[in-house]
Amino acid sequence: MIDPWASSVDYDKLVNQFGIEKISDLLNDIKNPQKLMKRGVVFGHRNFKEINDIINKKQDFALVTGMMPSGQMHIGHKMVVDQIKWYQERGAFLSLPIADLESFAARGMSFEMARKIAIEEYLTNYIALGVDLDNDNVNVYLQSENKLLQDLTFRASNKVNFSQLKSIYGFTPSTNIAHVNAPLVQVADILLPQMEEFGGPKNVVVPVGVDQDPHIRLTRDIASRLHEDLGFLPPSSTYHRFLTGLSGDKMSSSKPATAIYLNDDAKDAAKKVKTAKTGGRESLKEQQELGGEVDKCVIYEMLVYHLIDDDVELEKIREECLNGTLRCGDCKAMTSELMEKMFDDLKEKQIEAREIAKSVIE
Ligand code: TRP
Repeated sequence: MIDPWASSVDYDKLVNQFGIEKISDLLNDIKNPQKLMKRGVVFGHRNFKEINDIINKKQDFALVTGMMPSGQMHIGHKMVVDQIKWYQERGAFLSLPIADLESFAARGMSFEMARKIAIEEYLTNYIALGVDLDNDNVNVYLQSENKLLQDLTFRASNKVNFSQLKSIYGFTPSTNIAHVNAPLVQVADILLPQMEEFGGPKNVVVPVGVDQDPHIRLTRDIASRLHEDLGFLPPSSTYHRFLTGLSGDKMSSSKPATAIYLNDDAKDAAKKVKTAKTGGRESLKEQQELGGEVDKCVIYEMLVYHLIDDDVELEKIREECLNGTLRCGDCKAMTSELMEKMFDDLKEKQIEAREIAKSVIE
């Protein structure tokens, strides 16, 4: 297995301290694992084994993952889209909340603006990247417009007290109450597909970035407490690593210098690749002697996450980098070209996707 992040300890800590389990232990049992799972980008899970069994038995299950419409969608967000596609191919019912209550609470975003961003950024690109949203087995909704969700939020709130939330999120007496509310809305998002209206209790998988784990823990707890009333099962989850930004820090919608946006045009995306931090050494001589620092290279990460499907080809690049025969300049040029191709294809698909996106949350 390719593990490009063997040197990173933080993710291991999460696994050890918070009881997240390693996906690598399950990999042999997963049929045609999704590329990001195989490569250790999706590195952890809670109770994914049950979802895998259900998939293998071709039984019904649901997927929930939310989009917070706070700004432009970037290539880091594409990771979750690739996972959604994998589950859709395996028959999952997709429940996809647009977290406009959360973006209101966390970012002061108006509902009107959130709706616009959801359509133009998120839904358009979900469709363009290959998720079929025009489908009876999909429920896309705005949190602010969903009565069933709001009632369920209230029921979920009835099963938790302030000191519990405080211990999970570090809330203080001066914490704004909308901030206290927002995670409970997310809990309800995750439980919604188990409501009778959607066929009742079932297994649910939530693929998310690891920052969302506190919400998952809270949801699993509340699900058990609602078991008696509503028969809910605790959801399963998987966790992916973050995409590093161009500058070497986290890729962030609000920091243009770190991000390649899905609505960038292909030439700009290709240009941005060339600004990315590499794992190159100080001099060519040093590079040839020591090899590149492949696990610190943003360019290599783009290849792993997004641009190279063939494991053998990727392994070859990795080796040539490590043994010093591949030069950063050449590698960058190749990566930039691949990015441009990916974006050319995306641009073409966005045209039709834009029209479909409008009708998804009408
Ligand atoms: N909080 C998530 C984010 O910041 C968005 C979200 C809302 C979500 N509801 C969800 C994620 C339900 C997973 C499941 O991106």
